[in-house]
Amino acid sequence: MRLSATLGGTIASNLALIAGVAQAAPPQLVKQGTATQLHVQGQPMLLIAGELGNSSASSATYMALHWKRLKDMHLNTVLAPVAWELIEPVEGKYDFSSVDALIRDARAHDLKLVILWFGAWKNSMSTYVPAWVKRDQARFPRAALPNGQGVEILSAMAPATLEADQKAYAALMAHIRAVDDKQNTVVMMQVENEIGMLPVVRDYGPLAQAAFQGPVPAELMAYLTQHRDTLVPQMKQLWEEQGAKTSGTWIDVFGPGHAGEEVFTAWHYARFADGLTRAGKAAYDMPMYVNVALNRPGRLPGEYPSGGPLPHLIDVWKAGAPAIDFIAPDIYFPNFVDIVNGYKRPDNPLFIPEANNADHPQVPGNAFYAIGKLDAIGFGPFSIESIDEKPGQLGEAYAILDQLQPHILAAQGLGRMSAFRPKALYDETIVYEPVTEKIGNYRFTVSYADIQRPVLNPETGNAGGIIIQTGPEDYLIAGQGITVTFAPVGPGPSLAGIDSAYEGHFDAQGRWVAGRLLNGDQTHQGRHIRLFPGQWGIQKIRLYRYQ
Ligand code: DGJ
Repeated sequence: MRLSATLGGTIASNLALIAGVAQAAPPQLVKQGTATQLHVQGQPMLLIAGELGNSSASSATYMALHWKRLKDMHLNTVLAPVAWELIEPVEGKYDFSSVDALIRDARAHDLKLVILWFGAWKNSMSTYVPAWVKRDQARFPRAALPNGQGVEILSAMAPATLEADQKAYAALMAHIRAVDDKQNTVVMMQVENEIGMLPVVRDYGPLAQAAFQGPVPAELMAYLTQHRDTLVPQMKQLWEEQGAKTSGTWIDVFGPGHAGEEVFTAWHYARFADGLTRAGKAAYDMPMYVNVALNRPGRLPGEYPSGGPLPHLIDVWKAGAPAIDFIAPDIYFPNFVDIVNGYKRPDNPLFIPEANNADHPQVPGNAFYAIGKLDAIGFGPFSIESIDEKPGQLGEAYAILDQLQPHILAAQGLGRMSAFRPKALYDETIVYEPVTEKIGNYRFTVSYADIQRPVLNPETGNAGGIIIQTGPEDYLIAGQGITVTFAPVGPGPSLAGIDSAYEGHFDAQGRWVAGRLLNGDQTHQGRHIRLFPGQWGIQKIRLYRYQ
């Protein structure tokens, strides 16, 4: 993460202006209060996004119909893979036609791109590597099972593999810089995809065996020591149960079980990803992240992708991969709220590259929650092009986020905004309890409409809403399926009422266009603001105090 407005940066951009050079700073992460935002061409941007299915971006013809539909459903960003096998079919001979087509077509539709580097690993496996890598097991060794059998996963331990992946990734970044450093269509990079070892906890090949007998690297020991008080609970417990040693072999420090072997796996994947990221940033420095295949509770490492940047291994990845800007969870489990709260940390801004499948009914409410409550940089459901002909609720929710984007960006990190959705648990139970939060000078209580009859109203569990303070008594309230009451905070009159409530929308220039003045039955005679189930909308309200 870099600082946005350094003196040096200001002087450089002034010189560029004087010289008449249209030089754009690369996309970068910039702090605003407690939030971290993505700046593109000097302006903050919220990624209202979706990720393409794995094979779609490999054909410009296949994608041709989809770009306009994605734009029409109010996306501003598409997450699209670039495959190592396509850009370097022969070692050292690059073919960037697939990348150029992506950039050209995204630009033509005024869309930004987050490019997913499908290099050494995609969903644990190494199927996106070129044939010259796949077929050279001596130079690019496979990870091995305990009996020595190789799996279709490249070992993270081989310097030649890192070097080859680095060369290809750096060439990709250099190419993107050459064709895109003025327009910044590409705004962020994902390094590999869902890294993790299967079907066993770690690699048992010769390089891995030797490393596992050796000492835990000093960098990891130093990180654990320095961050002892803030380690994630499982990591702290694992280390402290063995006596919080500051040196020793992996078994000395983390014990003989699966948990310690998973730390070993995580460390080596993190070091590889860090080396790859450094090579990419040296060619073109922009935000780069890794995504996570989450672990099902109760499963052993290896039954899920072992050693990925999982909730219990965040510290290992932070220690091993400091060049990576953040870790981004892919969330297909119902307990979205709990998961995202674990990945929103002072050292980890939140971004969700795969927020379930695009047609999942919980997705729109989750988008509001991540962006409005946890200041997410962006949100992208998976297989977005599969719903672009009939985007349904997600299209409506994205239309609202698109309109609110300037207000959201102005409020992120500054205590002027929050968002709400009924929390879903891992077993899909939905918790309908109302939530109360102070936003600016008022305390809001949000309940979910038709609380008594959730089964009769399938929209209720999918409710979602956002409240943004825009003035001392002025708020935008948007979403669907929520009922909002309010009370003043601080000294003075103890009750709050509605001065005015309008429905409406923001036009393409960002101007408010008022619709009906809502009163009477629409506000329960002044008692509450209500956004009806299934009807995504925006209301602009002004409150007042009385006693
Ligand atoms: C997660 C992966 O990251 C995606 O590339 C895709 O394979 C989805 N799973 C499929 O559900």
